[in-house]
Amino acid sequence: MGETAGSRAVSLNSHPAARTFSGTRCSVSLVLWSLVGCILMVHFYSLIPQKDKGEIRIGSSHLSVTRELEEVEEENLYLPPPRGKRSPRAVKRRGPRKPYSVVDEFLDESSELHALFFPDRKSAIDPNKRGKDSMYYYPGRLWLDTEGNPIQAHGGGILFDWRTETYYWYGENKDGPTYQAHRRAAARIDIIGVSCYSSKDLWEWTNEGIVLSGEGTNATHDLHVSNVLERPKVIYNDKSGQYVMWMHIDDANYTKASAGVAVSDSPTGPFTYLYSMRPHDFESRDMTIFKDDDGKAYLIYSSEDNSELHIGPLTDDYLNVTRVMRRILVGRHREAPALFKYEGTYYMITSGCTGWAPNRALAHAAESIMGPWETMGNPCVGGNKIFRSTTFFAQSTFVVPLPGLPGSFIFMADRWKPAELRDSRYVWLPLTVGGVADEPLEYNFGFPLWSRVSIYWHRRWRFPEEWQRTT
Ligand code: GAL
Repeated sequence: MGETAGSRAVSLNSHPAARTFSGTRCSVSLVLWSLVGCILMVHFYSLIPQKDKGEIRIGSSHLSVTRELEEVEEENLYLPPPRGKRSPRAVKRRGPRKPYSVVDEFLDESSELHALFFPDRKSAIDPNKRGKDSMYYYPGRLWLDTEGNPIQAHGGGILFDWRTETYYWYGENKDGPTYQAHRRAAARIDIIGVSCYSSKDLWEWTNEGIVLSGEGTNATHDLHVSNVLERPKVIYNDKSGQYVMWMHIDDANYTKASAGVAVSDSPTGPFTYLYSMRPHDFESRDMTIFKDDDGKAYLIYSSEDNSELHIGPLTDDYLNVTRVMRRILVGRHREAPALFKYEGTYYMITSGCTGWAPNRALAHAAESIMGPWETMGNPCVGGNKIFRSTTFFAQSTFVVPLPGLPGSFIFMADRWKPAELRDSRYVWLPLTVGGVADEPLEYNFGFPLWSRVSIYWHRRWRFPEEWQRTT
């Protein structure tokens, strides 16, 4: 760059008009151009990824190592012709049918499209078969643990435990038969419990067993098999030295709408169930917890018939909520919150409320975790329009920061299969924060204040090799 600036300075000087300038003017402009050159060189150098003591530091997530994750990958979706017409008698009995949508097709077990989104075991991700597929994520494929069994950790979340330098993935074990408690109820499985898997690299997972089990005999217990246990999340309390689990506790009709708490001295359990509550005396359904850098933790839950979210700090021991609570995204009907933080700003991905059926995700951001929260639009990039409007046929559950890659995260989502819930799949995709938002924001008079959150569709992807070598 310096050379370019220098040669431009020379050509300026050789211009007939420039030749009339005095020698002093000439050298002033030369000095000025050299200065510009130096500044540009320093600027470009600061953008080049630096390798220092085995750690990758990058100036911006949009450069170098993360570039391959941010490639926009398109998908052509084969849409089968619409289903055959109903008989006039059926129309008379049940009224005209709603047009059959792609989501209906996706949920319909007999459709070709369904099979495409739930490929069979032949294509499973198998850590025992290393080779060319090693370390690759294939969103939607069956994912096996180290013993060769499909991972059962739905609606889950990940804890990185600094003490054991291990990742723990907690989630719903749904490995039971799917049924409906009554004709109009949502598809369900009986509570089996919370599974835990451990990993050093976020790809090869070892089953640590069920760390909190359903209750078989006492019908009044929150964890009685006939109830609902969803979206378990675990954080570590530095003061008490305990691992604290929060989860959604409900009855089969989702009228109990409570949050449950369990604790353990070890990340692999067993967890002791303490109680459930209606936080701040409000309904609580889909929920998550978030531990901030200062050790303060928060509960975020869908409330008031899922029409709004509530957020409030937990007590110092993380075993309860305090009296402080703010209503956020009021009237927006959002659920499945997944919260994360980057460069002092809080971000959240949520879904709409359509039960097991997928819908459009939204990204939100806030300067203060207690709000106000602003909505930034749909973070999904690539695939095609239908993929983007269904969160790649999945629903948010958690966002994992990638250590050493600032601004890069894994977006974890569930591809639910209400016809057979145990066969629901995981959709893990790279999420980055960077650049300015490209959709109009809510309260900012059209001026983009927040960095854009992007979740990139990939049929197959893995962490940049450079990153893998340093972890
Ligand atoms: C979804 C929710 C899931 C589960 C499901 C039941 O809206 O996110 O966790 O509760 O409804 O239909």
